[in-house]
Amino acid sequence: MTQKDVELIHVIKEFAAPRKDGLVRAVDDVSLEIYDGEFFALLGPSGCGKTTTLRMIAGFDDTSSGQILIRGKAVQDVPPFHRPVNTVFQDYALFPHMTAIQNVMFGLEMEGVDRRESRRRAMEALELVQLPQAADRKPRQLSGGMQQRVALARALVKRPAVLLLDEPLSALDLKLREDMRYELKAMQKTLGITFVFVTHDQEEAMTMADRIAVMDRGKVLQVGTPEDIYETPATKFVADFIGETNFIEGALVDRQGQFGVIKLDDSISIRAVITESNGSSSGTCTVAVRPEKLNLFPISGPMKYPDGSSDSAEGYKTALLKDPDITILTGKILQDIYIGTDTRYRVGIGKDYTIEVIVRVQNYGLRSDTYFQKGDLVNVFWDSENARLLSG
Ligand SMILES: Nc1ncnc2c1ncn2[C@@H]1O[C@H](COP(=O)(O)OP(=O)(O)OP(=O)(O)O)[C@@H](O)[C@H]1O
Ligand SMILES: [Mg+2]
Repeated sequence: MTQKDVELIHVIKEFAAPRKDGLVRAVDDVSLEIYDGEFFALLGPSGCGKTTTLRMIAGFDDTSSGQILIRGKAVQDVPPFHRPVNTVFQDYALFPHMTAIQNVMFGLEMEGVDRRESRRRAMEALELVQLPQAADRKPRQLSGGMQQRVALARALVKRPAVLLLDEPLSALDLKLREDMRYELKAMQKTLGITFVFVTHDQEEAMTMADRIAVMDRGKVLQVGTPEDIYETPATKFVADFIGETNFIEGALVDRQGQFGVIKLDDSISIRAVITESNGSSSGTCTVAVRPEKLNLFPISGPMKYPDGSSDSAEGYKTALLKDPDITILTGKILQDIYIGTDTRYRVGIGKDYTIEVIVRVQNYGLRSDTYFQKGDLVNVFWDSENARLLSG
């Protein structure tokens, strides 16, 4: 069994509300287990309580109730500097009058580590973040990305069991931010230090994290691997926050095994996987299906496959319909946008094509072979297993 490095048990944090009576509940009954060596992301929109959660783990804020354990030990009476954690903030906060290496050495010297030893360890940390050549430069002589790496070296030099990072990449420009994602992830795996990484950027969380906790309004809605969160979002909020999703409203009218049958209008019904948490509901419901799980082919005429072979649209449809899990509907292209790697279509389905779905089709071959245009009638199809009934 892997060791739990950080554990939150029913943690609540309330602040006095400004200019109002009463309290703001910033963190609302959060329980989490973060394992040794894990890259764990806390993901959610602005104001959902990410920073507050991190600050309580670091010890900068007390909990209002609940418990925090670090490596199995309750820490409510342990001051921040005695916890085996270190924090990297968004605005790196380097001392401007000190060189990079002096910045990294500072914490060690405060702890009474002698100068030679702190210098050696600081140099080691700078090598880790690939900045030994910048040791003697002042922060203003470094780029934003370099400054952020110095801040990282400063946090890593004490070899904390757990590193807490609060949106450390958000001040960087997009290209650098993307490069740093891969670097940070590689570094974390090499060092084996547990990372708790706060971000509101879903792509950042998906790229780096082993597991993600999605937060909204002080609550954790779902914890899982990037794949879990993306493929089987627990609630509408999670599905909407992570990537693009079609939400199709309908009425649950029947059940067939793992599927619910959902009537969209007088003309069509579709099927969607029913999960434990929403299985009992009936009546109005929402079906979620990702745009890349939907696909298109013509209503009639010849069809060319990516491998070069060909078929008729009618023949292709007959073949598809042999699989009972495939849903095929007639649709009309309302908008087509070429995005390079794929084409994003807005497609109307149902009576008078008034129910809109987004379909993303990868551009395999030449654009002219696969492209549909506004007004075209098409077959829209997907595997019903990729459609899910959602709660919340
Ligand atoms: N010291 C404080 N006093 C009063 N309210 C606070 C305090 N700190 C945070 N809050 C409130 O708690 C809630 C959560 O804030 P928090 O900073 O944890 O959010 P966040 O998820 O980190 O957001 P962001 O992505 O914008 O950084 C917000 O409503 C915020 O206004
Ligand atoms: Mg924050």
